[in-house]
Amino acid sequence: MNIRELLDTTVEYFKKYGLKDPRLDAEVLLAHVLKKERIQLYVDFDQPLNEQELGQYRQLVYLRSRHHPVAYLLGKKEFMSLELTVNEEVLIPRPETEELVENIIEYCKGRNLSGPNIVDVGTGSGAIAVSLAYYIEGAKILAIDISPGALKVARENIARYELGERVKVMEGDLLTPLIWLNKDNVDIVVSNPPYIDQAGMAQLSREVKMEPELALHGGVDGLDYYRRLIPQALRVLKDDGLLALEIGYDQAAAVRELFDSGWSKVEVKKDYSGHDRMVFAYR
Ligand SMILES: C[S@@+](CC[C@H](N)C(=O)[O-])C[C@H]1O[C@@H](n2cnc3c(N)ncnc32)[C@H](O)[C@@H]1O
Repeated sequence: MNIRELLDTTVEYFKKYGLKDPRLDAEVLLAHVLKKERIQLYVDFDQPLNEQELGQYRQLVYLRSRHHPVAYLLGKKEFMSLELTVNEEVLIPRPETEELVENIIEYCKGRNLSGPNIVDVGTGSGAIAVSLAYYIEGAKILAIDISPGALKVARENIARYELGERVKVMEGDLLTPLIWLNKDNVDIVVSNPPYIDQAGMAQLSREVKMEPELALHGGVDGLDYYRRLIPQALRVLKDDGLLALEIGYDQAAAVRELFDSGWSKVEVKKDYSGHDRMVFAYR
């Protein structure tokens, strides 16, 4: 079977399983197996596949038809123009989170912060920690997660971009380890915590259900992590330090309510789609 025939058959198969982008998925997976750029598949349309390539492709196609996310099948995802390793232990980094990172980079530029101390709470793949260290000169980052499996992936991504000098990882529950250490010199606490509520968890697509529940579920009303993290951040941030949070599009009012008079200013920021997506609060 050649590339053209294989793609056509796979697209029909994916359609039966209700995939949204059957052609794109079929091409991305085949390009991965053949170690080619997608565009090259068209140039090499008549190239036959050997048994080993066919076997590997069939396995990926089977898993994709069962709604395994493409990023897990490829073992990678692009975030802030960096290629990150991902697997089933971590949330697949989302474009909305790139906007959180971009806003923090802007904030550091605007304030001329050189070598800021940043803590990324719930680092997962390390997407936020690695990209902030990569784009903010001299930034020193502590990446915390409660999941040892996630930290293994984060370490791999930190090493991949040779950021081990400036990005350290720590296993722990939110900011509790820093509070024990009496640390109160942090410039920025950033977090994209689990924020899906109970009702939302029941409605997740099959694909999102493949991601770790620990990375998604924010308790009955989705706010459990914000409730604990906001008062903790007040204890570790410097005066005028920033707490930057990603939130669900409908959570701005509820999250705002969780900030007490210890905070000097609380701002809600929108994402490119016009949804409330971030809260920036200043100590
Ligand atoms: C929504 S994911 C965010 C991952 C990554 N920062 C990103 O934006 O792609 C939330 C992360 O919080 C971690 N987490 C859950 N409970 C935690 C806790 N109590 N303390 C620290 N991390 C926790 C999960 O393991 C998961 O990696």
